Amino acid sequence: MDHLSQTETFLTVPEIDIVRRSFLNLGVENARAGEIFYQHLFNVKPELQELFVGDISVQSEKLTNMLGMIVSQIHNMPELLPMLADLAQRHIVYGVKAEHYKYVGDALISMIRDMLGSDFNPEVEAVWAKAYNGIALTMIHSCFGKAGILKYRAASNA
Ligand code: HEM
Repeated sequence: MDHLSQTETFLTVPEIDIVRRSFLNLGVENARAGEIFYQHLFNVKPELQELFVGDISVQSEKLTNMLGMIVSQIHNMPELLPMLADLAQRHIVYGVKAEHYKYVGDALISMIRDMLGSDFNPEVEAVWAKAYNGIALTMIHSCFGKAGILKYRAASNA
């Protein structure tokens, strides 16, 4: 992954700790977290709604469960890589494009802000943004290569 720097895709131990602690606070209310996440996503990009053909509450649970799995393994990126590559490959079939990862990232941060309330702060936001960015870059790179990374970065800087 020549154009993905290690500092961009790997979290430090204190950062992992912040992600895990804040995720525990979200985990108790999985269904609500998913609901809030999709509200934010479809507010910002209503056209993405078309890609979701299944029951959105079932999808919400799958998303938060998968996030939980990723958070639990985030200290071990080499182990996570094949799982993220498979997930990314399935997302191509769902019609997901590289730039969509930016909107999902924004919706995720907004959901975490809503769920954590007064426990949300700039440090938590920065660490989650870094964690999501590392996951998104890894997924995008595995299926769209460098061209995908450039599209994601362009959407992120827009
Ligand atoms: C870190 C990033 C992401 C994670 C962890 C994630 C997780 C998941 C999971 C666990 C599923 C269930 C099906 C499966 O496992 O294949 C799923 C389905 C799906 N995801 Fe994602 N996803 C991510 C990014 C995105 C992005 C960027 C989009 C773009 C809009 C997206 C759109 C979808 C769609 C359309 C489905 C299928 C829903 C359906 O069948 O109705 N996901 N995602």
